[in-house]
Amino acid sequence: MTTPDIQTTTRRTVYVETYGCQMNAADTEIVLSVLGEDGYTPTDDLASADVVLLNTCSVRDNAEQRIHGRLTNIAWHKRQRPGMVVGVLGCMAERLRRKLVGDDSIVDVVVGPDEYRALPDLVRDAAGGTRGVAVKLSRVETYDDITPIRTEGISAWLSVMRGCDKFCTFCVVPFTRGRERSRSLDSIVREVEGLVGHGFREVTLLGQNVNSYRWEGRDFADLLAAVADVDAGLRVRYTTSHPQDMSDKLIETMASRRNICEYIHLPVQSGSNRVLRLMNRTYTVEHYLERIEAIDRAMPNAVLSTDIIAGFPTETEEDHRETLELIRRVGYDGAYMFKYSPRENTRAWSMGDDVPEETKGRRLQEIIDLQKEIAHERNQRRVGTVEEVLVEGPSKREDREWRGRTDGNQTVVFPHGDEQIGETIQVRIQRATSATLFGAPLDAEGRERFMPLEVVVAGA
Ligand code: SAH
Ligand code: SF4
Ligand code: F3S
Repeated sequence: MTTPDIQTTTRRTVYVETYGCQMNAADTEIVLSVLGEDGYTPTDDLASADVVLLNTCSVRDNAEQRIHGRLTNIAWHKRQRPGMVVGVLGCMAERLRRKLVGDDSIVDVVVGPDEYRALPDLVRDAAGGTRGVAVKLSRVETYDDITPIRTEGISAWLSVMRGCDKFCTFCVVPFTRGRERSRSLDSIVREVEGLVGHGFREVTLLGQNVNSYRWEGRDFADLLAAVADVDAGLRVRYTTSHPQDMSDKLIETMASRRNICEYIHLPVQSGSNRVLRLMNRTYTVEHYLERIEAIDRAMPNAVLSTDIIAGFPTETEEDHRETLELIRRVGYDGAYMFKYSPRENTRAWSMGDDVPEETKGRRLQEIIDLQKEIAHERNQRRVGTVEEVLVEGPSKREDREWRGRTDGNQTVVFPHGDEQIGETIQVRIQRATSATLFGAPLDAEGRERFMPLEVVVAGA
């Protein structure tokens, strides 16, 4: 009998940090699956990992600066363990390519979003001393046949389409993610059935532009309905819709099924038609507001959020005022707000970056302040209402406080009794900030549940 070789019996480990959007988070699960097939187990310990991967974002310059900073830290670890393979994945890999493996770089492998199947070979070559770059974009890759390795137990991300063909003039995504393509409807439905079987309670269908989903004559509304019909107890969400394609059919489908959550993220970017034209957003403020009205008619309680860019090239004070006005008119529950960041090779890059940094900063702050005030005011109106909350676990600050999310995707914090993670409970909202609702769980008769004595004492 021979003694087993220690190298083949010891599991090799992979450590991944994920940046950017939820699509990157979903891709990391694909990467873990591809490497898992090749014998790698995920680890949380960077220092001891055999392979260290950063799944990166290029959407704004500061996202990339963070990665450069992180690579400097990782260089220290690599000096302690020279055999460690370091890889950059995702959008920054796609954008910067060979530039990431220069002579003084610690990066061994660079892999773009459509090349994750090549990772095992690239990592093997890198361990043998050969650096590798794989950044071809594909018109067909959807990783349809790969079952992602999911770490969390109740909510799952699921990419239904990849890429973006919209070419908004400020945005790198069409360059880093390539052309739009959809996964087959049947395989998505099968994966969702599997998720339900494994106890998942919520699924979020992902795409940069989910409205462009097409599969054998079926569109995104058809897909959403098919997924919702898998199990009436499964919460179904999606992101992101483009305002131009927020169709009546999609709105009706959302309203027609109780388990499709009434939360819509509808990025507007600017409230000025002139700026929207320069951004190539392909809709007007009037069209956008008309879509919001259609949503309000079909789902009066829908929770709405948006993305806004402050300081796009040539943006005037008047354009900025129009953005503030639009925010007021819509009354968003939440928003992601950014300073314009010029990205090389995009069309806006050649428009210059003529809004001074200070002006951008001031405009962004005005947008943030207004949005905060509106969200606060909207949340005060929720005080006294009862929300259906999917229990997610302990809140960040307090063990006795737990958190969950409403149908509208808002975070609710409540005192913990006997609730279980993954349970759906009724919570009466008692107070609210602009970002969080606080409430008390109700029992089956709609009464506030008995509070354990120590909580009463602690609160006294
Ligand atoms: N597909 C989504 C969003 C993708 S990127 C959509 O169409 O809305 C997420 C957000 O980042 C965008 O909505 C936009 O507000 C912001 N963003 C993209 N490029 C940017 C840039 N160059 N500068 C600042 N913000 C940007
Ligand atoms: Fe970027 Fe526009 Fe595509 Fe969204 S729709 S990913 S902002 S190009
Ligand atoms: Fe960033 Fe790429 Fe997503 S640029 S936002 S990680 S698609």
